[in-house]
Amino acid sequence: MAFTSICSADAVGEGSMGLFQAGKKSVLLVWPAGGELKAYRGRCPHADMPLTESSFDGRKVTCLHHNWGFECDTGKCVTHAVRNALHPYPLRIDGEEIQVDLGPVREPRAKS
Ligand code: FES
Repeated sequence: MAFTSICSADAVGEGSMGLFQAGKKSVLLVWPAGGELKAYRGRCPHADMPLTESSFDGRKVTCLHHNWGFECDTGKCVTHAVRNALHPYPLRIDGEEIQVDLGPVREPRAKS
């Protein structure tokens, strides 16, 4: 586990979402009304398009490329009968920062 700071703890409020960059990876933070803050990969699982073109109604994230909708508590697609889901990242609040585990850190290749 390698948690990375994404933004300040007050960058996303309840009932809103934000897209953030962590190195080469984008991270979607969504906080459903009455729910918990969640972190997902910032790309749509349908056609791997960036979720910069998306909307959020407080419960569902809709990718505007082809209008697939994802329930933000689970990341599951709710508009199409498919197993596709947003890819979740572990999330924690550390002091004044939101941190996300983006997966294993790759060691740089050794020069030969
Ligand atoms: S790329 Fe998101 S719905 Fe098609």
